[in-house]
Amino acid sequence: MRSWRIGEKEEQYLLELLDSGFPGSGNGSFTGRLEKAFAEKFNSRYAISFCNGTATLHAALVALGVGPGDEVIVPPLTMSSTSLAVLHAGARPVFADVDRETFVLSPAAVGNRISSRTKAIMPVSLYGLPAPVDELEKFGLPVVEDSAECYLGRLNGRLAGTIGSIGSFSFQNSKHITCGEGGMTITNDEELALSLRRFSSLGYGQISAEPGKSKIDKNAIASPDTIRHTHYGFNFRLSELCSAFALAQLEKLDELVELRIACAEAFRKAAEGVSWLKPQRTPVNCVNSYWTAAFVLDTDRVPWNLFHKTFIANGGEGFYGAWRLAYNEPWFAEHVEHEPCPNAEYLQPRMIQMKTNYGNENELKSQIVAFTKTIEQVTKRS
Ligand SMILES: Cc1ncc(COP(=O)(O)O)c(C=O)c1O
Repeated sequence: MRSWRIGEKEEQYLLELLDSGFPGSGNGSFTGRLEKAFAEKFNSRYAISFCNGTATLHAALVALGVGPGDEVIVPPLTMSSTSLAVLHAGARPVFADVDRETFVLSPAAVGNRISSRTKAIMPVSLYGLPAPVDELEKFGLPVVEDSAECYLGRLNGRLAGTIGSIGSFSFQNSKHITCGEGGMTITNDEELALSLRRFSSLGYGQISAEPGKSKIDKNAIASPDTIRHTHYGFNFRLSELCSAFALAQLEKLDELVELRIACAEAFRKAAEGVSWLKPQRTPVNCVNSYWTAAFVLDTDRVPWNLFHKTFIANGGEGFYGAWRLAYNEPWFAEHVEHEPCPNAEYLQPRMIQMKTNYGNENELKSQIVAFTKTIEQVTKRS
């Protein structure tokens, strides 16, 4: 049986592509259709697709002129791609602490890390909650929004990913929408859009930021004198197959986000009033799109392993903790200097992330029962 996440539209578009024999690039290609639809959905002038949501961050930094000798401020409590992308661009990630209650980059902590070398700030809209991009913009530096985990989240009514200079999304399979692997950048700035496109497409000078224009027109390059590479770039393009699938997913994005919000609300309700189990705080000016429902075991009497083991014994499917802080991963510890980030260090070992993509109501119910039972049992023990 097919997964509930994959519907008839995905199949229809894939078959349409196979029947057409991969006709190529342009507005009518699936990549073109996906970029056009994504730009419309996010009220953005440009949407440039990529093969994943790490390449998007790398390209965004390069488009902003980030390179060797520069610093980019990032949170340490995030998937490693955020800081890896800074290294890919040849710059140095500078870690600033997160807020103890919202878990996203703290503007006050960022203020303490800015130096004459700081070229950009790259906050993460963690677990679906928009980062405080409006406050970060006050530092007068370009902001790249890592919105891989945040689709249709809002800050002061504005969609996450549309507030900073460039917004970056991922279509990796755990995300709100997927095509296995993929990514998208959005921007309103024509020059940035063209830089993003060129970087994703081998530095070709003849391409444009318009939808689907990631390949050179065949007739225009027939001559042996053709100049192709006016810029430096990678082949970070999204395939037509992935684009066809992602387009079908994008068309039901509202539905998929609503489902995550409903699942998260059920977990949050079950934890209401439990003093030692603190949900991620969603500020009143934000809409959280709940990639996961994150909680902190805000006590030393309930170790992560105990909660996890009890949840599974009660029929729970399991859950993830938080990634190790980037600067505590062995390679980073050896190569990247950092100042301590006490809030992130407190939160990381105590974080639990409940899954929010249950397509079946009974499945969700069984998880809420297991969660509730676990809270009761652990409360008695603690
Ligand atoms: C916050 C964050 N940034 C970046 C990425 C990288 O995206 P991708 O896996 O598509 O490269 C991910 C997820 O995978 C993520 O969660």
